[in-house]
Amino acid sequence: MNYQEAYKKLEKYGQLHVLKYYEELAAEEREALLSQIEQTDFDMLSLCKKRETLNPRGKIEPIAVMELPQIEEKREAYTEIGVEAVRAGKVGAVLLAGGMGTRLGSDAPKGVYNIGLTKDVFIFQRLVENLMDVVNQAGAWIPLYVMTSEKNHDATVRFFEEKKYFGYSADYVTFFMQDMAPASDYEGKVYMEAKHKMSTSPNGSGGWFLSMIKWGVAEKMRQAGVEWLNVFAVDNVLQRIADPCFVGATIATGSAVGAKVVAKNAPDEKVGAMCLEDGRPSIVEYYDMTPELMAAKTEEGKPAYDFGVILNYLFRVKDLEEIVARQLPLHIVEKKIPYLDATGELVKPEEPNGYKFEQLVLDMIHELDSCLPFEVVRNREFAPIKNKTGIDSVESARELCRENGILL
Ligand code: UTP
Repeated sequence: MNYQEAYKKLEKYGQLHVLKYYEELAAEEREALLSQIEQTDFDMLSLCKKRETLNPRGKIEPIAVMELPQIEEKREAYTEIGVEAVRAGKVGAVLLAGGMGTRLGSDAPKGVYNIGLTKDVFIFQRLVENLMDVVNQAGAWIPLYVMTSEKNHDATVRFFEEKKYFGYSADYVTFFMQDMAPASDYEGKVYMEAKHKMSTSPNGSGGWFLSMIKWGVAEKMRQAGVEWLNVFAVDNVLQRIADPCFVGATIATGSAVGAKVVAKNAPDEKVGAMCLEDGRPSIVEYYDMTPELMAAKTEEGKPAYDFGVILNYLFRVKDLEEIVARQLPLHIVEKKIPYLDATGELVKPEEPNGYKFEQLVLDMIHELDSCLPFEVVRNREFAPIKNKTGIDSVESARELCRENGILL
């Protein structure tokens, strides 16, 4: 794209400020900026004006959850099916580690955060150790696909190499990068993070399978015979990954996807609740939980939306291939976005100052015909690290690790 074409495109979207420093840029910086303008979808920025009405919800109803007593009854049989699938190389794991982890307040990838007290215990290390339990149980390596973004790719790969993959087989670890999306102020004007670069942020957790295809990782996975992908978040240091009982239950019930859920600790807890939406499996986000939904009861008198998702899903690959072309809803999220101020200085704001544009993995559930919500014991499997202190923090996760006998 040349300067005139870039100018025209920006003019159309009211974003001409992007060229403010063009005259003073070096040749390669000009080229980088023009290429970024060419690749950027500015259409999505204007959607922030309709943020409130962007994703209307359908009719929400309760969904049947496989609760702990039901699981206990069949634990052995499910586990056997799951172990068999792992042993046959049919199960892969996808670590979503492309997020910025802004709430934790570190510029490094979240997974390199050290939660140890008397020794090093990195978040990535905890996850690999959890996965190793299943590798040892099944006697087979599980392919691990790690999604990064351009903001943390090099640092993530370097860290795994430096730490010798925490004992995992490097042959079974593949990195791939997600795409970026522009980040804007509240009016939808894209921020600049350098004179030759618009501010961008990773485009959310929802694009992971598309990115696997784009990077040729999906093809490699298919050739390896993987039929199920356990997608999980970087920040839950207690979660079981490729958990044979969960894998077995999802397979045995013929579900297109399994979703690990925990009993919510309060009706207004900030986790998405499993539900049916217009008759299809779905997740209602905590900010969409109306007082009516919070108060709703099942026929047995239990809270109707009592199970929250923990971002640990088991997707059937053949279904992913079918839904991949469909457009997922766009979520416009308020965040802290580094930007160049009027004098051209980079500012790292202390408070949210604009929007990021994201697609979310939880919206993939609604695209599928069937889902098995699978309950796990909350204090054993849910220790998310979002913040440094308080709820869902390094502190609370340390406490839960201690409760589970993990030495820190
Ligand atoms: P979060 O919703 O906690 O977002 O991600 P975040 O960006 O990491 O953290 P904050 O909000 O800035 O503090 C849940 C999971 O989804 C991954 C994260 O790495 C985490 O495992 N994720 C999120 C991505 O892989 N890509 C994204 O674009 C966003």
